[in-house]
Amino acid sequence: MTKTIGVISSGRGENLRHILLAERSGYLPARVKIVLSDQPDAGALSIAREFGVPCNYIDPKGLAREDYDRQLIIELEAAGVELVVLTGFMKILSPAFVRHYKDRILNIHPALLPSFRGMDAFQQALDHGVRWTGTTIHIVDEDVAHGPIIYQRPVPVKEGDPHASLKARIQRAEYRAYPRAIKMFIEGRPRVEGRKLIFEKEAD
Ligand code: GAR
Repeated sequence: MTKTIGVISSGRGENLRHILLAERSGYLPARVKIVLSDQPDAGALSIAREFGVPCNYIDPKGLAREDYDRQLIIELEAAGVELVVLTGFMKILSPAFVRHYKDRILNIHPALLPSFRGMDAFQQALDHGVRWTGTTIHIVDEDVAHGPIIYQRPVPVKEGDPHASLKARIQRAEYRAYPRAIKMFIEGRPRVEGRKLIFEKEAD
């Protein structure tokens, strides 16, 4: 049941690194076959090279969103990707892309959704004064940070927490949560019922 994964990232790529470590250790029944980015100097591309995973920068300049996403689909299809994993991909995917991979796109967001859906979820949590925030892995639908939730991991907000320390604490939680969520998704074979996921099987 090993699944072929394509990762799309705009960022540092630390989630990608932990997904690759989980794959190589045998924890994850999956194989990352391609890493794509819209940023030429994304850390994620360096990490892909470090692990020997094919990767590609796709320049978004001058391309309408649907055309950009068509380029993504061409690369993902060529790599035989079954499951698309977003790690800090900062572009909003077109409805056509979401339909193409319906219920097969995962995303991680650094808050306990549905709270703090927008940018800088860390600052939003600090400003709101919540005692707990965390990370959410969810299926991508046509709305931002909105689809059915696969897995969440809470993280405490400490008294006088600076932004950087809350961010680091949430990101450390993400590195364990994302591989766990991907494993649950692959092994649990959930079906989507409205906002909810019904798992056929509990992950080990
Ligand atoms: C992660 O913290 C992820 O939650 C966030 O981007 C970071 C990527 O880090 N995603 C979002 O904010 C999406 N709205 P990484 O490049 O080191 O994996």
